[in-house]
Amino acid sequence: MINKYAVILAAGQGTRMKSKLYKVLHPVMGRPMVQHIVDQLQALKLNKMVTVVGVGADQVKEQLGDITDYVVQEQQLGTGHAVLQVEPLLKNAHGMTIVVCGDTPLLTKETLDALFEHHLQAEAQVTVLTTTINDPTGYGRIIRDQQGHVAKIIEQKDANQDQLLIKEINTGTYCFDNQFLFEALNHVTNDNNQGEYYLPDVIEIAQKQGRKVTAFQTADPNETLGVNDRVALATAEKLMKQRINEQHMRNGVTIIDPDHTYIAPSVKIAPDVIIEPGSIIKGDSYIGSQTVIGPNSEVEDCKIGESTEIAHSVAHQSDIGSHVKIGPFAHIRPATQINDQVKVGNFVEVKKSTINKGSKVSHLSYIGDTEIGTNVNVGCGTITVNYDGENKYKTTIEDNVFIGCNANLVAPVTIGQGALVAAGSTINKDVPAEALSIARAKQENKANYAKKFNKLLK
Ligand code: UD1
Ligand code: CA
Repeated sequence: MINKYAVILAAGQGTRMKSKLYKVLHPVMGRPMVQHIVDQLQALKLNKMVTVVGVGADQVKEQLGDITDYVVQEQQLGTGHAVLQVEPLLKNAHGMTIVVCGDTPLLTKETLDALFEHHLQAEAQVTVLTTTINDPTGYGRIIRDQQGHVAKIIEQKDANQDQLLIKEINTGTYCFDNQFLFEALNHVTNDNNQGEYYLPDVIEIAQKQGRKVTAFQTADPNETLGVNDRVALATAEKLMKQRINEQHMRNGVTIIDPDHTYIAPSVKIAPDVIIEPGSIIKGDSYIGSQTVIGPNSEVEDCKIGESTEIAHSVAHQSDIGSHVKIGPFAHIRPATQINDQVKVGNFVEVKKSTINKGSKVSHLSYIGDTEIGTNVNVGCGTITVNYDGENKYKTTIEDNVFIGCNANLVAPVTIGQGALVAAGSTINKDVPAEALSIARAKQENKANYAKKFNKLLK
């Protein structure tokens, strides 16, 4: 087995992004660009992965962790100079080395694997991944000789009028014989319009030394998009969204309007789920079969069971069971557990609470730091009063309790099993099981007083 290595270039500031955030950390479908690349490379079972970092070194390291080795490029003197920084780590290695840019988030493991394979079959020293696009502006152009062999790569800023017309571009992804790469890099100069050490110059060096250079052309130019500015970032977002949505649809998920549905790469969805327009599903979410998400719902890091409905609602970091109805306009905040057959209706906010099987909180309530048993009915407008300005306290509502409308449950408080709380009550003492609790001022009706009062006003 031949050794396989990868170098990820991620030291550039990304001036064209005009951002405080380091370029390769800009997210595409919620995941930093460089993380997408690393995810794909990880699947290739490499002997070693090295990431070249610069100004934003700490943030990149924090993002990628120890899945890759790192070298620091103190000054960004060009892509050739960047790869040269890896020399101490890889110089003595034998095998094939893929170099990729941290700003090409759409590259797939299939293409990278095919690049290794092509390089191996061709017995080449250098293989450059190229593609043909209608608007090659900004990319390096592939210059071929009369026999059609790749002779060199000319950067946009160094190209003459004729060269600018060439539509075959350098995708910024290459496969090299590792030994040859580091030997050739030492011959790269910065004699060009940008005063930079260009990695693509290795191709011309290889040609001149009579080494074998090949091009591997990918048919899908979308995959090799390089993100240099926010316009390209939006394009990447669109393409990635489309790719993810199509994968789910092929797996049996109905997406009513794929252009307006955002599903993060890490999300898992069972077949026969329906996703209505305007929905966003993020993080490590799982959606069970027959569930309907949306329209206009946001789900992040949630595990959702089967045949549940979440309409016009927001749910974060929570577990939601099967046959649950949520919304419209509900807000499920972190650390909530909603069990099977529960209903959380309109304008209900639930935070760090458990609602057990068959219970209902149908309208206009705040449920925080609360444990609700089974078959409880929480009346419209009920508030768990969990916060005194300093500390948070717990409310416990046991099985089969009925809470009337507009009750305040001042925590810490327990409503015992089967108890009734009268509408409008402010409860600040525990209610025993099976009791009826009324805590409100007694009503007094003053005969004809309204008439008198109105006269007085006139
Ligand atoms: C580069 C290629 C160009 C190719 C295009 C594909 C060069 C000279 N040009 O151009 O032929 O068509 O990618 O997208 O290689 N970086 C460093 N250190 C540096 C400079 C850059 O780590 O000193 C990193 C950047 O973070 C980035 C990558 O290298 O991830 C590419 O750099 P960038 O400036 O975006 O190159 P392009 O102008 O896009
Ligand atoms: Ca680029």
